Amino acid sequence: MTVSINKILIAEDESKIREELVECLTDEGFDCVEASNGEEGLNLLCQDLDITIVLSDIIMPRKSGLEMILDAQSVIDKNRDLEFIILTGHGGSKEAIEALKLGAIDFLEKPIDLDHLVHVVHRAEELVGLKRASRQYEASLEADVQAKTLEIQKLLDNLKSAYSESLECLAAAAEYKDPETGNHIRRIGEYSQVIAKELGWSKERQDLMLLAAPLHDVGKIGTPDNILLKPGKLDSDEVVIMKQHAQNGYDILSHSNHPVMQVAANIAKNHHERWDGSGYPQGIKGAEIPIEARITALVDVYDALRSKRPYKPEFDQQKTLSIILDGDGRTEPSHFDPELINILLKVSAQLDKIYMKLAD
Ligand SMILES: [Fe+2]
Ligand SMILES: [Fe+2]
Repeated sequence: MTVSINKILIAEDESKIREELVECLTDEGFDCVEASNGEEGLNLLCQDLDITIVLSDIIMPRKSGLEMILDAQSVIDKNRDLEFIILTGHGGSKEAIEALKLGAIDFLEKPIDLDHLVHVVHRAEELVGLKRASRQYEASLEADVQAKTLEIQKLLDNLKSAYSESLECLAAAAEYKDPETGNHIRRIGEYSQVIAKELGWSKERQDLMLLAAPLHDVGKIGTPDNILLKPGKLDSDEVVIMKQHAQNGYDILSHSNHPVMQVAANIAKNHHERWDGSGYPQGIKGAEIPIEARITALVDVYDALRSKRPYKPEFDQQKTLSIILDGDGRTEPSHFDPELINILLKVSAQLDKIYMKLAD
């Protein structure tokens, strides 16, 4: 005899029949518990979670077999393994059909043929086993999917950070030749992101600015050192060559279809254009200049004014803002989008914080 892992509840008010069933099923290796009415049966079902098969009479005192099934279905966890088999008296086919409709897997007519009983109970046992295996499979599948999702998320995060790091390296390569420091390009990214947020742009577009704006001077890679690093004033030929860094930047960045690179290419090309049309390379003005380039142009000048340069000392926040607002003969308010100047004033405390945090 093999011992079954399934426990059977036998709910039957006639003790003689109950004892006969218990004896037969115990011999088959089942652990049995007994109830003499439906109410007792329901209580046992709720308390003993090992019960997986219920053998129940229909007509019993206090609670009928059908009522017990109904109550069990409403109070017992839907995921619990539980199969019902009904015992009916002679002529109880109407109740038996009712029980099958409620989900009982079979019914046995009294007097009970014990061989048939054993067969039906083994079938119930098989069903419980199949349902359990299928649930375990589902759970392991779910766990697998969860683990894979986590893995993919991790890979995506890695890819994203590798991507932004390579953009930073590209920007840094240009700055490396330049007297301006690596922190300048990081600040430009962060300032631009703050402005984009104040403009009400999506998080995605704000992040685009954070990555793209630092690449504005990438074209300086192509500027000869004797011009880029010349301590004195550039002559007119040298100025022409110096100005080519805008178009060079565009040529370097515009090969990619990636949104960050496309925005970066537009910024590189247009970050020296001015609102009043006095900029380069095309001398376009106003809203003809892509907004991303207008933002970068403004924060680039803000940062240049704040920073120490070979030709000027570091200016504080107040002096920097007053030059942007009133001009100083070199920088003029007409160079910038007036709406962006207003926004810059609104977020100036945040820009100041970034300047301090990422100081040279
Ligand atoms: Fe530039
Ligand atoms: Fe710059």
